[in-house]
Amino acid sequence: MYARFAKPLLFRLDAEHAHHLTMHGAALAGRVPGLTGLIAGQLRPSPVLAQTLWGRVYSSPLGLAAGLDKNAEAVPLFTALGFGFAEVGTVTPRSQPGNPQPRLFRLPEDGALINRMGFNNGGTGLMAAHLKGVRHAPVWVNIGKNKDTPNEQAARDYLDGVRALYRLADGFVVNVSSPNTPGLRSLQAAGELSRLVDAVLDEVRILRPELPVLVKLSPDMEAGDFAASVQAMAELNVSGLVISNTTLGRDGLKHADREEAGGLSGRPLEARSTALVAETYRLTGGRLPIVGVGGVFTAQDAYAKILAGASLVELYTSLVYQGPGLPRRINAGLVQLLRRDGYTHVSEAVGAGVKNS
Ligand SMILES: Cc1cc2nc3c(=O)[nH]c(=O)nc-3n(C[C@H](O)[C@H](O)[C@H](O)COP(=O)(O)O)c2cc1C
Repeated sequence: MYARFAKPLLFRLDAEHAHHLTMHGAALAGRVPGLTGLIAGQLRPSPVLAQTLWGRVYSSPLGLAAGLDKNAEAVPLFTALGFGFAEVGTVTPRSQPGNPQPRLFRLPEDGALINRMGFNNGGTGLMAAHLKGVRHAPVWVNIGKNKDTPNEQAARDYLDGVRALYRLADGFVVNVSSPNTPGLRSLQAAGELSRLVDAVLDEVRILRPELPVLVKLSPDMEAGDFAASVQAMAELNVSGLVISNTTLGRDGLKHADREEAGGLSGRPLEARSTALVAETYRLTGGRLPIVGVGGVFTAQDAYAKILAGASLVELYTSLVYQGPGLPRRINAGLVQLLRRDGYTHVSEAVGAGVKNS
C-alpha cells in the first residue's frame, strides 16, 4: 500500500512538506476512538521478542528513533505499529524554529537522508500536553538544550526537560550528539558529559528513580574519546547508551545532494553504527544495555545489531522509504532469524556475535 500509493505521492513533495503531511495524518489517526488500539492488537509482536528492561516490558526490541515525532504528536499511532517503544523529541525547554529551510534532503539511491533541522520543536509544554494521550508501548523523551543556551548553562536546560516531563515519560535520553546545534557535540567529552549526566541522574533519582536515563552518542568521535565517554557513562551507572546519532561522514554517496550540510542517516550509517555497538558492548563487558540505531532497513540489519550487543534497536530513515508496515515485517523477520539460529528468545542473541568472535 505504502510503496504503491502513499510513497509516490509523498516523494513528489519536498521532504519536509511530506514529513509534515505524514505527521498530520498520523496524529489524526490517533484521534479516531479505538483505532490505534485495534491496530496495536493486530500488530502485537511475538512473545519471543519481549524483554523486561528497567522493570518494564518491551514487547519488541524495535523502537522508533528520535527526531521523527519531535513533539510527541502521533504517539498513539507510532506505538501501535509493532514498535516495542518510541523515542520522541529532541525537545528543548523553550520552543524554537530550528534552521532555515530547506533542511531535510532525501538521497534515495543511497537509502539515506541528510538533515540539519536544528531541534525545531514546540518546547516541553507542548510535549507534555501531547503525552497525556494514550500509548501502546513505553515512550522515552529525548532531551536537548535550546540553541541560544550557552554550553556552560546547558545542564539547566536538560534539568528543565526532566522536571517538565518526568511524570509523563517512560525514560529519558540525554542528547549531546546532534550535529546541528553549534557546539553541542563538545558536551560529549568524558569530563563535560559526566558533569551533565550526573546532574540529570541526580534529578531523576529524586523525582522518579525507576525511570531509565540513557545517553545518545555520535558515531564521529575519535576511538579514544569514544571509549573514554563510554567508560565514564558506565562508571556513572547510566541505564544505557544509544549508539548512534547521525554522522557528518559522507563516504560512498551517489546522490547530487551529498554535500548538503547536516547529519547523514540511513544505509550509509549501518555498518559504522553496528561496529560501534560491538565496541561499546566490548568496552562495557555487556553490562550496560545498548540501543543500536543507524541504517536498520531489514530484520537482518536489526539482528546484526542485536548480535553485536544491542538489547534494543531503533530506526527512522527506513520508515520514510518503506512505510508503516516495516516494524511488523522486521518483527516477523526477527522471529524467523532467531528460530533459524536456535534461539528461543531474543535476549539469548544479545551480544552473541561479539562473545563468539
Ligand atoms: C530528519 C531527522 C531528524 C532527526 N532528529 C533527531 C533529534 O531531534 N534528536 C536525536 O537524538 N536524533 C535525531 N535524529 C537521528 C535519529 O534518531 C537516528 O539516530 C539516526 O537517524 C540514525 O538512524 P536511521 O539511520 O535509522 O535514521 C534525526 C534523524 C533524522 C533523519
